[in-house]
Amino acid sequence: QSSVLHKFKGVIFSTMSSEELLNSLDSFEAREDDVFLVSYPKSGTHWIAKVIENIPNARITLTPPIELGDISKFEELKTYCERRVIPTHLSYSMLPINVKQKQCKIIYIIRNPKDIAVSFFHYYRDNPNLPSIETWHEFFELFLKGDVVYGSWFDHVLSWEEHKNVKNILIISYEEMKKDPSKNIKKIATFLSLNMTDSEINQIVWKTSFTEMKNNTAKENCDPNHTICALTSNRNLVFRKGAVGDWINYFTSKQKRVFDELFTEKMKHSELAKHFGD
Ligand code: PPS
Repeated sequence: QSSVLHKFKGVIFSTMSSEELLNSLDSFEAREDDVFLVSYPKSGTHWIAKVIENIPNARITLTPPIELGDISKFEELKTYCERRVIPTHLSYSMLPINVKQKQCKIIYIIRNPKDIAVSFFHYYRDNPNLPSIETWHEFFELFLKGDVVYGSWFDHVLSWEEHKNVKNILIISYEEMKKDPSKNIKKIATFLSLNMTDSEINQIVWKTSFTEMKNNTAKENCDPNHTICALTSNRNLVFRKGAVGDWINYFTSKQKRVFDELFTEKMKHSELAKHFGD
């Protein structure tokens, strides 16, 4: 284990999520109108957050991730007056009990795990807050075993699987968002009980395109050291390629076979797995 990591309930976290905070998650006081934006890392969290932020008259504020920092985080989260959109990479079992009891709205983002693995590899390699990784092969093995921050992708998705049909949980897929952003943006707005005209939706499609978002640090004069990722504040590490199917440029045919076998075994009863093509 690297000094920048620690384990909590069997899952690897970075030291940017203190053990004290993780131990106290159940004391977090959720508000009924909170929205949780949940994902395994590299699933498209920044993208969906930007969509929500751009919905006209949404009266929401995007907060830093709930699991980032120390116990003072809960005091900080109390200072937000507007409806809070709280991002997190926590699995279902670790989500504060209060969020479940109050039936807060939750958007769970999913993405093809092969693309996640490739995205995560670059992120690990270039992120000084994570242990150094030299090669894709090295990272592939860690990803397969779930020996990465936030643990196994399979465990994460399966923890959400049984809750996917609950009415306060909306599943959004990265691939479907790419294919038909308008339809999915509308879905998100409707889920949050917000109305939008077609031209407002088109505006959001444009503003949240990968190119716009990658360049907006300069354009919108936003802080280049601000992300909603609990593992870095450097925006350049988040906006890489923004494509579907980049895995093909990294997986060897053996890695594909090994991954697909594990996928078939672990996800055989999963309906969420049907969201990913290949
Ligand atoms: S993090 O750091 O875990 O919160 O990262 P997250 O935001 O979940 O995921 C980062 C990946 O999402 C891509 N991305 C986008 N794709 C398409 N359109 C838009 N607007 C967009 N914004 C971010 C980002 O580039 C990362 O994927 P890769 O494959 O590495 O490019």
